[in-house]
Amino acid sequence: MKIYGKANSIGEAKSNKSGRITIKGWIYRKRSSGGKIFAVIHDHTGTLQCVIDKSAISADKWDSIEKAYLESSIIVEGSLRKDERAPGGVELDVKELEVLHSGEQFPITEYQSAEFLLDVRHLWLRSQRMRLIMRARSHVFSYLREFLDRQKFYEVTPPLLTISAGETGANLFEVEYFDKKLYLTESSQLYSEAMVYSLGKVYTLAPSYRAEKSRTVKHLAEYWHLEPEMAYYNNEMSMRLQAQLISHVANRLAKKDAEILKGLNVEPEYLAKIKPPFKKITYDKAMEKLAELGSDKKWGDDFGVEEEKLLTQDEEKPIFVYNWPQEIKAFYMPVNRDGKTVACADLLAPKGHGEIIGGSERIWKEDELVARMKYKGINIENYKWYIDLRKYGSVPHAGFGLGVERVIKWMLNLDHIRDAIPFPRMINRMYP
Ligand code: 4AD
Ligand code: MG
Repeated sequence: MKIYGKANSIGEAKSNKSGRITIKGWIYRKRSSGGKIFAVIHDHTGTLQCVIDKSAISADKWDSIEKAYLESSIIVEGSLRKDERAPGGVELDVKELEVLHSGEQFPITEYQSAEFLLDVRHLWLRSQRMRLIMRARSHVFSYLREFLDRQKFYEVTPPLLTISAGETGANLFEVEYFDKKLYLTESSQLYSEAMVYSLGKVYTLAPSYRAEKSRTVKHLAEYWHLEPEMAYYNNEMSMRLQAQLISHVANRLAKKDAEILKGLNVEPEYLAKIKPPFKKITYDKAMEKLAELGSDKKWGDDFGVEEEKLLTQDEEKPIFVYNWPQEIKAFYMPVNRDGKTVACADLLAPKGHGEIIGGSERIWKEDELVARMKYKGINIENYKWYIDLRKYGSVPHAGFGLGVERVIKWMLNLDHIRDAIPFPRMINRMYP
């Protein structure tokens, strides 16, 4: 049989429901009865039941399929036949087959602990569930890019090795860099800001690293971070753009990936209804609401899982909480006229999935920035280049950071963020 080159995908073949086809896949299930083997084969698009009649193939081919394991790789050729009893309503009558690699007994069986599945993540990625999530993930990346491309953004690429903190600096990974110390970036924002002066509207889509000790269902030590940055935007305009971007991704998934969503028990209708505008409440109002709901957080406190849950449990769409206390937000955010809050916003996903976007206006005047950095106790020396941007034709600008895995976790309703990324890096997980 022809090993290299094109074959039919199961998804395509199933929707055509007839004709002679070749499938290159892996054995998902297998049973035999009365001189026949029923093998369910999977590829990236789904599964197909294949019927192999002993009398239709040679003795050694029969022998090879009889001995094959689950997840052995296989090429099958045959004709499709409608059959009400078969899953998906169609079956393949196999005329020719080749077990490409029988290999060893597959280590994953039906009931296994989450820890074990993480240890064999490289193999678990072949499961139906992980395959669906990874397909959706790939599409989320392309829908994000599609939206920004249509809005005439430039994609730019940041350095991941950085000389200083891009955010609070509390959670940096250190890297030995020749005879110096560098850090894995925690945000590409400062570099995106530099690119705004060159290109107007830009975004980076790159990993960010957080050495957070938190063992929560929404923290990764390495995550994919989309960071758009826009010249002549204020907080209000930025929030509007964020709502459009999130809605675009949700609506695209609903429209183009309905099958994937259903496979993960997510109603496409739910994501189709995510449309701008999103509700906006100030931090002040949020605190009042939290007090009513029984929270004991005081003005000036950051939100934890509990507060995020209380605020979003009854929401269908994400909500913005804007104008946060300056003490708990980063050095680059401008202080509002009240002298207490900064011009920023966090976007919280519904039903307790937590913060999916953090964004703000950026201080664009040199004196104000330097004063603010000193107030925050930041070593100005490391940020000379960043301050430099405010010396030559500075302009107002704003931007935001979207955690791609957080968005995937919410949209696919996953229990844990680790399933939104193929090889998760967490405080107690770095293998495989
Ligand atoms: O709120 P954060 O820390 O903001 C920034 O880094 C800004 N510099 C972004 C900007 O304005 N360009 O992070 C932004 C987003 C969060 O809203 C969250 O979605 C995600 O990054 N995030 C994480 N995702 C997974 N694991 C973690 N440990 C994350 N920390 C932040
Ligand atoms: Mg944040």
